[in-house]
Amino acid sequence: MKVTIVGAGAVGASCAEYIAIKNFASEVVLLDIKEGYAEGKAMDLMQTASLNGFDTKITGITNDYSKTENSDVCVITSGIPRKPGMTREELIGINAGIVKTVSSNLIKYSPNTIMIVVSNPMDTMTYLVHKSTSLPKHKIIGMGGALDSARFKYRLAEALGAPISDVDGMVLGGHSDTGMIPLTRFATRNGVPVSQFLSEDRLNTVKEDTKVGGATLTKLLGTSAWYAPGAAVSSMVQAIACDQKKMFPCSVMLEGEYGLKDICLGVPVILGKNGIESIVAIDLNQAEKDNMITSAEAVKNVNDLLEL
Ligand code: 2OP
Repeated sequence: MKVTIVGAGAVGASCAEYIAIKNFASEVVLLDIKEGYAEGKAMDLMQTASLNGFDTKITGITNDYSKTENSDVCVITSGIPRKPGMTREELIGINAGIVKTVSSNLIKYSPNTIMIVVSNPMDTMTYLVHKSTSLPKHKIIGMGGALDSARFKYRLAEALGAPISDVDGMVLGGHSDTGMIPLTRFATRNGVPVSQFLSEDRLNTVKEDTKVGGATLTKLLGTSAWYAPGAAVSSMVQAIACDQKKMFPCSVMLEGEYGLKDICLGVPVILGKNGIESIVAIDLNQAEKDNMITSAEAVKNVNDLLEL
């Protein structure tokens, strides 16, 4: 299994590290445009191999896409991260051009790859890859929901005073400070609905804290987060590499599912060796359905800014 990660910044390098430590990939290629940067990150990571016990070969390359040839999975993390007070959507002007160029370069050498898009505004960048490349729709996956769900579980565990391993929950919708839909109705503590432990007010606080999880960290860090985004991507890559048939909320092209068309938005999908094996239809109540429509409308407004 060969994985290419474009962007050797904090998210890309964290993703490379987690993939290596999980030891399911034979090779990870880390590519950046900054001279020597990816090479340095790759060498530093390889020097942890004996300490962290992995055999994955991590190589760094500066802007030479020929070295990414025949990658089974390509991850696009390149682009500028947001600063405190910025929305993800404000990054579109610069990141759209980067994502278009990067995806085209990757597919030139790996025409059958599965593409995972991380760059923000992620739902719109995922839509851009659909519109600007010939990859089949089941091979283009936006990473947002896996990260947002991890933050949701963190907040639920905090509210419950429970270990994270006892908690489950999923976030659908747009990967934006306002468009996320934490499904509190489906969230559980060891199989028991969390509504049996937490008041509606407390659950609303969990929801709101989840939605601004990225912005909260950007305010603390001065830039966007990297550990959880990197870990979320690595879990998706593992599901594909190991054909796990695992369910993740991912931003995928919808063609009628959830009443939505011609838009990429976070919905439950099964990830396996083919990428998106299937889109999962779950029974949402009217409020959840309305939230999906509202979230989609916000993403479409950002998509309309693209010059396709
Ligand atoms: C986040 O929410 C980078 O969008 C990513 O942290």
